[in-house]
Amino acid sequence: MAKDKKKKSNSGKKQAGRKAPFLRSTEWFGKPGMDGFHHRSWMKNQGLPHHLFDGRPVIGICNTWSELTPCNAHFRILAERVKRGVYEAGGFPLEFPVMSLGETLMRPTTMMFRNLASMDVEESIRANPLDAVVLLVGCDKTTPALVMGAASCDLPTIVVSGGPMLNGRFRGETIGSGTHVWKFVEAEKRGELSTQDFQDAEACMSRSVGHCMTMGTASTMASMMEAIGLGLPSNAAIPAADSRRNALAHMAGRRIVEMAHEDLKISKILTRKAFENAIRTNGAIGGSTNAVVHLLAVAGRIGVKLSLDDWDQFGRDVPCLVNLMPSGKYLMEDFYYAGGLPAVLKELAEVDLLHKGAKTVNGKSIWQNVKDAQCSDRDVIHLTSKPFKAQGGICVLRGNLAPGGAVIKPSAATPKLMQHKGRAVVFENIEDYKARIDDPNLDIDENCVMVLKNCGPKGYPGFSEVGNMALPAKLLKKGVTDMVRISDARMSGTAYGTVVLHTAPEAAVGGPLALVHEGDMIELNVKKRRIHLDVSEEELERRRQDWTAPEPPERGYWRVYHDHVMQADTGCDFDFLIGSSGAPIPRESH
Ligand code: FES
Repeated sequence: MAKDKKKKSNSGKKQAGRKAPFLRSTEWFGKPGMDGFHHRSWMKNQGLPHHLFDGRPVIGICNTWSELTPCNAHFRILAERVKRGVYEAGGFPLEFPVMSLGETLMRPTTMMFRNLASMDVEESIRANPLDAVVLLVGCDKTTPALVMGAASCDLPTIVVSGGPMLNGRFRGETIGSGTHVWKFVEAEKRGELSTQDFQDAEACMSRSVGHCMTMGTASTMASMMEAIGLGLPSNAAIPAADSRRNALAHMAGRRIVEMAHEDLKISKILTRKAFENAIRTNGAIGGSTNAVVHLLAVAGRIGVKLSLDDWDQFGRDVPCLVNLMPSGKYLMEDFYYAGGLPAVLKELAEVDLLHKGAKTVNGKSIWQNVKDAQCSDRDVIHLTSKPFKAQGGICVLRGNLAPGGAVIKPSAATPKLMQHKGRAVVFENIEDYKARIDDPNLDIDENCVMVLKNCGPKGYPGFSEVGNMALPAKLLKKGVTDMVRISDARMSGTAYGTVVLHTAPEAAVGGPLALVHEGDMIELNVKKRRIHLDVSEEELERRRQDWTAPEPPERGYWRVYHDHVMQADTGCDFDFLIGSSGAPIPRESH
């Protein structure tokens, strides 16, 4: 017992001159009588010795491990490494599962479940005796879902990303997740790849643990976490299979205990300046359009005013520095060896495109973290004076076709198509598109504008990644590689093309996209940020009168989702989840 007392004074030590923060876990494990007995006794069935309940910080390790989420399937090992660090620093780690969102298997789309998973995270944290949390994230939606939930609880929080897969290799060529799938599909359509080749490529692309290794949504969100200050330096790029990923998890475990002692809450990291840093970083890495929706949702939870237009304002002049697929030729493994995100952040800081003083989870400013970063390959990470592409940010378009806004990623688009006027070829929904796209009689040529409706947040339902519609086989065979495509859908971060996305309001709520008819002329002018349907207001009003809303789903989560999801321009959170309730102690259950 004397030993236990001594341990308590070590583990619960005050920072010099600072009052030790209240640890909410003491309301469970520090209680006398029956309540304390209940809370401690059942935990002891896991072989936990009594000294762990002595008032040391209890660290939740929020794990999205699942065999149905292959990108996160190595997370049990990662969680063990976090635990080592937590124990080493005198904390008490407790791992817990939350809903996992596997991009490749879940239907209709993981995006439909992002908010549900965030609720799981929020309520799991608040209901349990946790003082701080480490979020284990990887596959696309797992990152925003966990950060949204944690933001609504506002405890000290560190994000540990699972890391990208190693470079894919197929017959001597380096291949990237997702990006090469589109290429293989198109090559198979053109008859250049056999079914056997196609199958061989599957294993070659995904040859190690980890998430997509292109600058897709997972790598983008991992980079966002580092740029916004929630991840430790190099969180974005260390490959999942690299031993340094486990070391980073170990260090995150050590650091989160200190953060609990310092009461360094997530709201102290997620400031307006931190979001601006993330937006600019997204431009510099040529990041996914999905980051727009996710960061708007996170900002809404933490109470930072962030708008769609901020993406244009802060991202517009940021050059793309990173030569990674889908816009470039390298992959995340190369990115890490070249210097990773610290080298990019240093470049941005040196031309005043970074708020240097923004605080990060290791207690240092972002500038302190990156000022000594090195770059060993300027073909992978370019200088701002010699960028990979002049414009890396996301452009926000408006006009009578998207009064609430739409987005396009110029670095993934064909320059000559960014100013284009063409005849609309309209698909009423994804089934209509699939049924007709390869019909040899489809009246379409390379100058047409492909329009896809009813794939937005409510429409699909779930805001699916179908916006980069594959081109008609007959045009692919002619050698056409890109066309203007417009939809209320999202696009995979691994995809590319002159693709206008997130059109708001969406067709399923009667947005102007619902009123487009076959043969209408549509004008895209990215320089002027304009997307225009060349149809008179009177005619649009007449069409509006004829439009009928689709039937809502009858029951269950789908109904909740339908009734409460907001539009793309505000981040697609549920209207009742905006904001933070903190982590007050819920009342006893007995
Ligand atoms: Fe999981 Fe791409 S499928 S990150």
